[in-house]
Amino acid sequence: MGNKNKIKRIADVARFENVIEYTDLEESERPKGKWKNEIFKNQNPITLELACGKGDYAIELARRFPERNFIGIDIKGPRIWNGAKTALEEGLSNVRFLRMFIDHLHYYFDRDEVDEIWITFPDPYIRKKPRRSKRLTSPKFLNIYRKLLKEGGIIHLKTDSLILFNFTLDTIREEGCTILRRVDNVYRDAPNDDLLNIQTFYEKKHLKEGKIIQYVSFTL
Ligand SMILES: C[S@@+](CC[C@H](N)C(=O)[O-])C[C@H]1O[C@@H](n2cnc3c(N)ncnc32)[C@H](O)[C@@H]1O
Repeated sequence: MGNKNKIKRIADVARFENVIEYTDLEESERPKGKWKNEIFKNQNPITLELACGKGDYAIELARRFPERNFIGIDIKGPRIWNGAKTALEEGLSNVRFLRMFIDHLHYYFDRDEVDEIWITFPDPYIRKKPRRSKRLTSPKFLNIYRKLLKEGGIIHLKTDSLILFNFTLDTIREEGCTILRRVDNVYRDAPNDDLLNIQTFYEKKHLKEGKIIQYVSFTL
């Protein structure tokens, strides 16, 4: 994408009514504790898509489950633009986007405010020196999720990175979490699974390169 287009998208995202940007907010204006009553204006359960990029899961789940609320979260505005624009065009009132660092999630969500989390193709942070604490399934991030996810709330991870997948399985074990379902090769082992077959932008690229997609769901 050219620079001009990026700048336009950043400006669009700043004015889209379904996007909240952390840069705009004083502490008192943050949506923490207000998602159901003031933002969605209903008491439906809330699912987050973390590292949402274009928000493919948030959008498709919002279409399929109008009785639930979805929030796509990513730091990159030009990517969020895609999901936010689609939601506006389709009139999807049960989806919002939040442009922020996931590291600060607990400043934007109250205890028990979130029912479920999807983490879709997060950066595995393997190329340069190991930066494991940046991984969205590291103990640091699980501790953040503990502050806002309801007891028994499910975390779903989809990834193309075997290193990240194995790291997550180790972390789940070390942190005493409970695996609900593990699929080592989504398109071989669960080819007809309606939820696992939703494909994100990055997933389509990985599939074209012949990569294997892994999935695990767990509770904290
Ligand atoms: C590989 S992309 C995947 C995007 C999308 N889920 C997909 O599958 O097409 C990873 C995304 O994670 C976001 N990301 C990584 N770490 C983040 C963090 N700590 N806070 C917010 N966004 C983050 C990046 O901005 C990027 O858009």
